[in-house]
Amino acid sequence: MDQTTELKERPRDMGETLKAANVQALAADQKNLTSDILERYIRPEMDDDVMFSGDITEEIPVIDMSKLLAEMSREEEASKLKHACEDWGFFQLVNHGVPEKVIEDMKDNIKGFFDLPLEKREEVAQQPGDLEGYGKAFIFSEEQKLDWADLLYLYTQPPHFRNFKHWPSEPTSFRDSLDSYSTEVQKVAHCILRFMAANLGINHNQLPKLLGSQTVRMNYYPPCASAHDKVLGLTPHSDPGGLTILLQVSPVPGLQIRRNGKWLPVMPLPGALVVNIGDLMEILTNGRYKSIEHRAVINAKADRISIAFFHDPGLWETVGPLTEIVGEGTPLFKSVGMQDYMKLFFAQKLSGKSMVDLMKLNP
Ligand code: OGA
Ligand code: NI
Repeated sequence: MDQTTELKERPRDMGETLKAANVQALAADQKNLTSDILERYIRPEMDDDVMFSGDITEEIPVIDMSKLLAEMSREEEASKLKHACEDWGFFQLVNHGVPEKVIEDMKDNIKGFFDLPLEKREEVAQQPGDLEGYGKAFIFSEEQKLDWADLLYLYTQPPHFRNFKHWPSEPTSFRDSLDSYSTEVQKVAHCILRFMAANLGINHNQLPKLLGSQTVRMNYYPPCASAHDKVLGLTPHSDPGGLTILLQVSPVPGLQIRRNGKWLPVMPLPGALVVNIGDLMEILTNGRYKSIEHRAVINAKADRISIAFFHDPGLWETVGPLTEIVGEGTPLFKSVGMQDYMKLFFAQKLSGKSMVDLMKLNP
């Protein structure tokens, strides 16, 4: 197949997952959450979690995009960005330029979708053998512990990859709202990628050009009154792709990052977007940037929604350490086809930085 034909083809057969109960429906009846039901979700290993305690001594970086864009403040902000990418793999982004109305509309529409009755939500359910739609991910056995969450996973960019069969038609403004928000977030991602490229000393268009594909994962985490500190909303993982931009829709905490072996909560910062480096960015930069492990925890009383946009290379690309970055040095990772890379990711349980480990040349 030549590249033009491939560019027209929507990704498919990327993987599959076993089905599991709709968690929102389970959680609607908190009194009937028996230990039999909760057994599949309870994680004994959480007893060993080490949390940041007392005052959080380390400040999660906050990057101001308007300062990156203004000539006077650029140099100082770019050096903060470099530190955030090399040392944290993670930062909050303020003054990103996404219009407030676009964000508020997206929040209203995703809340509206999760407020629909289950039968309505299931009109966009995942089909067997496919990952797009409303459902689950990464379930391979009946014994495996499950995440206390439901998700809606969609291809959003390029526009011809969209499969409207899985795009909610209710609320009626959902599709337009997601279209606008996805376009704005991609602009932000590409702007950040140009500043990263400048920091890395490569052509400023190289990363935006390579990371032209975008998917979205909308997460719904219901409360769990009796076992909120024993279940997880999302298993510890790093994102497999390039750059993730996440919106904490709800004002309650839930996202945590692993920093120096301890879990550090990322408080929702009004108006901010959360940006993190994915495994592929670590691989492309030959280890200069670091992906970061993170997870989502559950609240006792409040539900929580988040929207994560993943910016990745197209499936026809080959991914590995960029020659411009490796230079005379030694590549630390293999180069593979993007399609094989993603299939491998979706074929295994979520687990820490597994893709970075698998791609290492000399593990
Ligand atoms: C993700 C993710 C965290 C959150 O969707 O990959 O890490 O806060 N989400 O929902
Ligand atoms: Ni993630």
